[in-house]
Amino acid sequence: DVEWVTCDSPVNIALIKYWGKRDEKLILPLNSSVSVTLNQEELRARTTVAVSRNFKEDKMWLNGREQSMKNARLQSVISQIKRLCRKRKIDGDQPNEKLQWKLHICSENNFPTAAGLASSAAGYACLVYALSKLYGVEGDISKIARLGSGSACRSIHGGFVIWNKGDAEDGEDSSTEQIAPETHWPELRVLILVVSDQTKHTASTVGMQTSVETSDLLHQRLQGVPKRIERIKKAILRKDFHSFAEITMKDSNQLHAVCLDTYPPISYLTDTSHHIMQLVHAINQDNSSNMVAYSFDAGPNAFLFMQEKDVPTVLDILHYFYPNSDPHFIRGIHVPGKHDT
Ligand code: DP6
Repeated sequence: DVEWVTCDSPVNIALIKYWGKRDEKLILPLNSSVSVTLNQEELRARTTVAVSRNFKEDKMWLNGREQSMKNARLQSVISQIKRLCRKRKIDGDQPNEKLQWKLHICSENNFPTAAGLASSAAGYACLVYALSKLYGVEGDISKIARLGSGSACRSIHGGFVIWNKGDAEDGEDSSTEQIAPETHWPELRVLILVVSDQTKHTASTVGMQTSVETSDLLHQRLQGVPKRIERIKKAILRKDFHSFAEITMKDSNQLHAVCLDTYPPISYLTDTSHHIMQLVHAINQDNSSNMVAYSFDAGPNAFLFMQEKDVPTVLDILHYFYPNSDPHFIRGIHVPGKHDT
């Protein structure tokens, strides 16, 4: 007597970064952000959710290890899905008895969680999607994914995605939409360079909180984000890689400048990250227009964007400069992807 659902969710990489909340509880951002969702074959979270009248208690496993269910974000995600399920009940319907049954959650990533490769985003997107199927919930589930981890709301869609910050206090207008589907720019490629798989850095939740409190630069950044978003939207729609690359790199640099402006400062980038940045600029300088772009999240690992035709050249250069790197240094060549079960 067990009912279960298994789902996969892809990772998304922010081109215009989300950094700072206007509401910590509802996870509402101070700025809108734009991302690209990757194909889920190589990097994905997989979650199975099951309910049964025979389960004695709610339980959860992450990558094979049992986790505590006493996590405020996890609980808020589960209760919101159940609330929507109750709301859907039409007069005369039997109350969904599954809502009373205990829940088991089993989640795993096919990439090292420790590498900080947007695992929480894929993980929460996946959990919310799986729960929505299990309880038969429809509607904008990206708002519920947001309650797990802000960036997770963007992984609910494939292709190029915008998370509009919204202005309403209750977060009703803070929602995601697709700018272009994954089929729009099939020549785009993403290489992930795993500089370190350690998780010694400040978690993004805490990092952005300290930045909001202490960084003047963050507040200045907020003024410029809307214009940058308009520009990158245009670059995506026109498949203008040169502009796409410039805006992406500038926004990544600005995020890390804000981190350094945070007090005490946060530095996510290592010497290798800086070396990769220099290398990318050197490659671009040798070409009439940008060939590669980097982007870094709250960690030292690089996401490199390029077009399919330039992948062999970039790989040659990387192998030349990093001849003895770990075989996992380059984690696959990814394409924009979609979200499906
Ligand atoms: C640098 O979504 O992990 O990756 O909402 O507190 O869970 P919480 O933060 P999270 O922050 C992501 C920060 C980022 C930029 C981005 O993905 O936009």
